[in-house]
Amino acid sequence: MLVGDKSYQTLWLHPEDEQVISVIDQRFLPFEFRVEDLHTPAEVFMAIREMHVRGAPLIGVTAAAGMYLALFQPPDEKEITAWLEEQALYLKSARPTAVNLSMAVDRQLRKILLAPTVEEMRAASKEDLQAFIAEEIDNCRKIGEYGLPLIEEISRHKKGNPVNILTHCNAGWLACIDFGTATAPIYMAHDAGIPVHVWVSETRPRNQGFRLTAWELKQHGVPYTLVTDNACGHILQKGMADMVITGTDRTTLNGDVANKIGTYLKAIAAKANGVPFYVAVPSTSIDWTMDDGAAIPIEERSENEVRFADGFANGKAQAVRLAPLHSPVFNPAFDVTPGRLLTGFITEHGICKAERDDLLRLFPGKVPYIKEK
Ligand code: MRU
Repeated sequence: MLVGDKSYQTLWLHPEDEQVISVIDQRFLPFEFRVEDLHTPAEVFMAIREMHVRGAPLIGVTAAAGMYLALFQPPDEKEITAWLEEQALYLKSARPTAVNLSMAVDRQLRKILLAPTVEEMRAASKEDLQAFIAEEIDNCRKIGEYGLPLIEEISRHKKGNPVNILTHCNAGWLACIDFGTATAPIYMAHDAGIPVHVWVSETRPRNQGFRLTAWELKQHGVPYTLVTDNACGHILQKGMADMVITGTDRTTLNGDVANKIGTYLKAIAAKANGVPFYVAVPSTSIDWTMDDGAAIPIEERSENEVRFADGFANGKAQAVRLAPLHSPVFNPAFDVTPGRLLTGFITEHGICKAERDDLLRLFPGKVPYIKEK
């Protein structure tokens, strides 16, 4: 996607140094555009944990890149398998909720361990990393293609008025490699000349909506309006949103969806007011081994994310305190929305209901998890 007049992806292999992976460091957006070079699995771990990169698909690809970088620093060729298994466990522990992380690391590990020498491991790892990047871009493009007719259909009834779409957090290209998941149909509709307008919800505590979604929609020229998280119920009740589209960090077989904290409340309000609520779900965010959203591990993040807010003042980015000193804080980063509140999933294989049988209709190769009696 465009940043100014230059086309970017969120992560790329450094063209001159094969031991470097470059990423957009999202901690500084929208105030400053910075690129960070990652050299080691430890740097990749920190980039994921401290959210230099974030969003489920990008977390997965960055972790896969961490496995690739691990191949440039094995302690001893004889111990390489143990070293790689250790690095895989380490990278997987960076954040708990997005299933993309463990899936991507396991995928890399499987490919790498098939190769007999370190040289061949590096080649196999690089080849698979590039293939994975291409697949994730393709997933987003297809989600855009399948989601576009939903927006077109609403637009037909709006007599030239914009289709109002509410989204939460950032499930845009910054959360993926390109296009985004929830934003892909929106970008496609905008590019096709369909008038669209996006309600961008704040997304406290880290403000991914204000800071990232607003920034990337602006870069692409898509009309949007910022709203506080608390305004979303009102917007849905007043018929000011025609549909909701969000992303997901982990979708379970029964159609439950873990996504950024606050998604659940929006889904309840949408259901209560008859507003369609779609979740854009690439297959890399589906946990085929988990039957029920109740089992999804929910990340709890630092208390200071709630006590403070990052902003821009006097020419620099800085944190300001919002609450009495040392206030106790509970900071769950995700919640689980039951599939029954959702209208459907937009996947790279098409649209389905948020339920097991319809999901497996689109992905027939996946073996459903059988519960132990
Ligand atoms: O904590 P974050 O910023 O990583 O959370 C991101 C989200 O909740 C996104 O909606 C989700 O990862 C889907 S991204 C396509």
